[in-house]
Order: sequence, then structure tokens, then C-alpha cells
Amino acid sequence: MKEKLQQIREKAIAEIERSEGLERLNEVYGLILGKKGELTAVLKGMKDVAPQDRPKVGQWVNETRQAIEELMDEKKAKFEAEALQRKYESEKLDVTMPAKMRAKGNLHPVTQVRNQLSEIFTSMGFEVFEGTEIENDYYNFTALNTPQDHPARDMQDTFYLSPEFLLRTQTSAGQIHVMEAKKPPIKIISPGKVFRSDDDATHSPMFTQMEGLVVDKGITLCDLKGMLDEFVKRIFGEDTTTRLRPSYFPFTEPSVEVDVSCFQCGGKGCKLCKGTGWIEVLGAGVVNNKVLEGCNIDTNEYSGFAFGIGVERIAMLKYGINNIKLLFESDMRVLSQIDD
Ligand code: DAH
Repeated sequence: MKEKLQQIREKAIAEIERSEGLERLNEVYGLILGKKGELTAVLKGMKDVAPQDRPKVGQWVNETRQAIEELMDEKKAKFEAEALQRKYESEKLDVTMPAKMRAKGNLHPVTQVRNQLSEIFTSMGFEVFEGTEIENDYYNFTALNTPQDHPARDMQDTFYLSPEFLLRTQTSAGQIHVMEAKKPPIKIISPGKVFRSDDDATHSPMFTQMEGLVVDKGITLCDLKGMLDEFVKRIFGEDTTTRLRPSYFPFTEPSVEVDVSCFQCGGKGCKLCKGTGWIEVLGAGVVNNKVLEGCNIDTNEYSGFAFGIGVERIAMLKYGINNIKLLFESDMRVLSQIDD
């Protein structure tokens, strides 16, 4: 009997040691200590043992059972600890892990440039006047020395809403509103959308302008040039300069086209400046006396300069965009690349 118990014990120990998980351990328990287990069978056979031997045999059986159960408990505890550890590992939080990137919105390139321009000019003391997109013929043309039948009206293909009302073709219309409402000194910018029946790689039927107007005593073209030099340095970089070329606008006399030295090649000539070293950026001039007089400003006392900037044009130059449509197509691949 003792031998048999020893055999069971050794077999159990070997099985327990060999088992690789809780499941197998439970099986082994069943095989040895379960209802039909080997040791249980021995216990059941106790009735056949001679009465005087029963206490001794009982003690052996109990010892065997205890030894097996102890080892089993030990092994079980080990498996459970390992399982818990695995669970912890799988649920482990790495607090140093970088957070998931969230898609971040940014302002539209045209809005960014418009804001940059506004910031530069307001830091120079300009106030902001926002006009309206629907104007009447008088403010958009006539008061700007462009009466009916003036050939300069041809320069801007106009969307008329009625014989009197139109979608403004230029923020210059704002100049008149400001001069009617306020006596000099005047120093304003007027940003906003303008509309022209014009559509190609560099023109869009709707685009953005920023008008500037300064009226005060003793204002000359030199003041315009000085202000522009400062402006282009701030928007295109410290090394940029300007040059003025004669031009024509009905509301300025003299009128100029303003070129900026090419900020890409430094003036040597490249693709951007088409080999000339200069890039045209805006129109400007000394306010025509006829315009000031129309607004009851005494031209013996006051003079002024004005300028008009195409905001999309600045954005295209700054960000190397060759087709204005790219700015209006809402293509995230384009827009997400531009964030100053
Ligand atoms: N209004 C002009 C245009 O849209 C731009 C312009 C030129 C505005 C000269 C001005 C200026 O104020 O002085 O083409």
C-alpha cells in the first residue's frame, strides 16, 4: 500500500511539475484527487483494509494528499501570479507615450496674409475701415475720378446689380466713404472682397484687396515710398527694397506701380521674377486733387497718398502658389501646408 501511495505521489508530482497552466493543473487534480481520482480510489478502498491497519494507512493517505495539494496550491499560486502579471503588462499605461496627434485647423492662407498685412499697417498707426461689398456706381467709380464713359472703367469688368448698384471692383470705394465721414488727418486701411468678371491662372472673379489712404498736411510721394519700403521689409524680409514705375489710375496723380526686389533671388533674376529681379506687388499714387475736392477736402492745405494691394497676389508670391484657383479650391493638401 505504501508503495502504491508513493507511486501516486510521484506521478502527481511529475504531472504537476510538467503542467504549463491552470487548466492542466485542474485536470491533474481530477486525475488524482477528483471523484474518480487515483488517490480517491485508494480512500474508497479503505474499507477493505484490515481495521488495525486503518489508522496507519489513513495517515499515509492523508500525508500523500496533503503533499500533493500543497504542491498543487503552490503551482496554482504561481500560475495565477503569472496570469495577473500578463494582465498588468497588457494593460500597462505608458505615461511617456506621445499623445495621439489631433488634426489642427488653421486660418486660410488669404486670411493669414490679410491678418499679417493688417498687423503691419495698424502697427504703423493705420486704422481699419471695412466697407461694403455692394456699392453704388458713385463710390466705386465716379467719386474716384472715373465718371460714366471714362475709358478706365474698362480696366475693371464690373458685375452690375442694377444701373446704379454693383459688386465693388476695388476697395478704393472705401476711400470716399472715409473722406466723407472724417476730416484729415486720415490714415486708414480698408481690407475686403472685391469682384470682377475676370478668370484665369492669376485672376479670380472674387478676390481680396487691401486699400490704404493717408491724407494730411504735406504728404508727398516720398512718404508713400518710405512707408512702402518699411512694409515690404516686414512682409518679404529685411533685404527687400522697392522701386516705383509710372502708371495710370484715375484717382491718383502721379500714379505708380510698385515693384519689390525679388526676395527669392535677391535681384539676380530667377523664375519667380521672370529674370528681371523685380516683382510687381501693388498700385499706388498721390491722391488726385479731384478726388479730394469731391470730398470737400481743401487741396491747398491737404494732400495724400493711396495704395491698393492684392492680398491673393501677396499670398501666391509668399507661398509659391502659381494658380490663384488653388487658394479657392479648399484642397486640404494645399491649405494644410500653409501655416505661418
Ligand atoms: N484700385 C486699384 C485696382 O484695383 C488699385 C489701386 C491703385 C488702389 C492705386 C489705389 C491706388 O489706392 O492709389 O486696380
